[in-house]
Amino acid sequence: MNVNTRPAAPTGENPYTAAEMEHTELKPNYRVDLRSHTSREYQKFISLNPVNDWSLLSWKDVGKPYEVKRIAHDRKIWEQEHDATMDTHTAWTHFNQSFHQWFIKDVPAEMDKEKDEFFKGLKAFNFHQIREGLGDVVRIHLWNYVHRIQDGVWDPRGKRALFEGLDVQKPRILFLGAAEGYEAMQLAAMYPGAEVVMVDYDEYCLTTRFAEFPEAYPFLGENPRTNSPQVYYKQDFNIEYVVSDIRKLPYGREFDIVLSVGLLEHFPDEIKPEVVDWHRRFLKPGGYAIMTTPRNQLRSRLFYQIMADVMNHTYRELMTVQQMGLYIYENGFDIHRHGYIKVHNGVVARLR
Ligand SMILES: C[S@@+](CC[C@H](N)C(=O)[O-])C[C@H]1O[C@@H](n2cnc3c(N)ncnc32)[C@H](O)[C@@H]1O
Repeated sequence: MNVNTRPAAPTGENPYTAAEMEHTELKPNYRVDLRSHTSREYQKFISLNPVNDWSLLSWKDVGKPYEVKRIAHDRKIWEQEHDATMDTHTAWTHFNQSFHQWFIKDVPAEMDKEKDEFFKGLKAFNFHQIREGLGDVVRIHLWNYVHRIQDGVWDPRGKRALFEGLDVQKPRILFLGAAEGYEAMQLAAMYPGAEVVMVDYDEYCLTTRFAEFPEAYPFLGENPRTNSPQVYYKQDFNIEYVVSDIRKLPYGREFDIVLSVGLLEHFPDEIKPEVVDWHRRFLKPGGYAIMTTPRNQLRSRLFYQIMADVMNHTYRELMTVQQMGLYIYENGFDIHRHGYIKVHNGVVARLR
């Protein structure tokens, strides 16, 4: 299924303009962040622990990623009921439905509600309710901190630092495993006139995750005429959303940028060359492959432990940027830039 989202129906006012540069604000379910990334953040992205010569790096030097083993409860139930291992596509449909529920929560209201439930359990000496309630309280507070306070999931300033400085004009952008499509929209804001193709084989991503992405969310980008900051909204972008398996896409080497966010780490080593190849096969000569994967750090391990029932439906690894870069380098790319943003590693690569 293909859906072209332009021209969009007018949907109300766009609340921010470039006059609000440096503004940040907490909404009930996300943070608005129109702050420019600082030079320190940019430096952090490009220059911490840099690898100067990827050909000298070996797996012995960098070790292998950490596998997150804790599986979501609803996957376990499904497997018991079906007496079978859940297939990957079904696992993604479970993941997307579960994860989306967290993006639409009114987080302050939910924090109050979960606290009340917990105290009700305490008053009633209901130990099952207390245990469940405690888990719910912890999860909603963690989500509030990670997504709303820290803005670690969307991380607009980190993503802008990662996407900065590409040598492209009105690029064609292919987003593999696009889910709600956030990062391609951020790229399109920075490179005006972009034509975006988002691909995900879970239809729910088109009909719900992308469809319900907040129309009032401001993406800070550039005005092509003045080169000054400009705020864009989802409905400003030229987006085609394709529901398809990446393996079945009909495109040739026609995209200036091929992007994936949180895809590579969902495949064990024997499949990673194929996943890297998905980025190569649609890329114009001289184009950029941009990939991010979650970082292997203690706080991320804890996050996936605590949020297992929300997030862990599929195979998942946490890795370092050196490990990620080596997978990409070994499979035919030169690493143009590499570093890390809040919770992800980022690599910008070009065909060797
Ligand atoms: C972990 S998500 C990406 C992270 C995303 N930013 C999010 O918020 O969920 C990976 C996405 O890739 C999609 N996907 C995985 N394998 C795919 C394939 N072979 N073809 C198309 N989409 C695929 C899944 O359906 C899922 O929506």
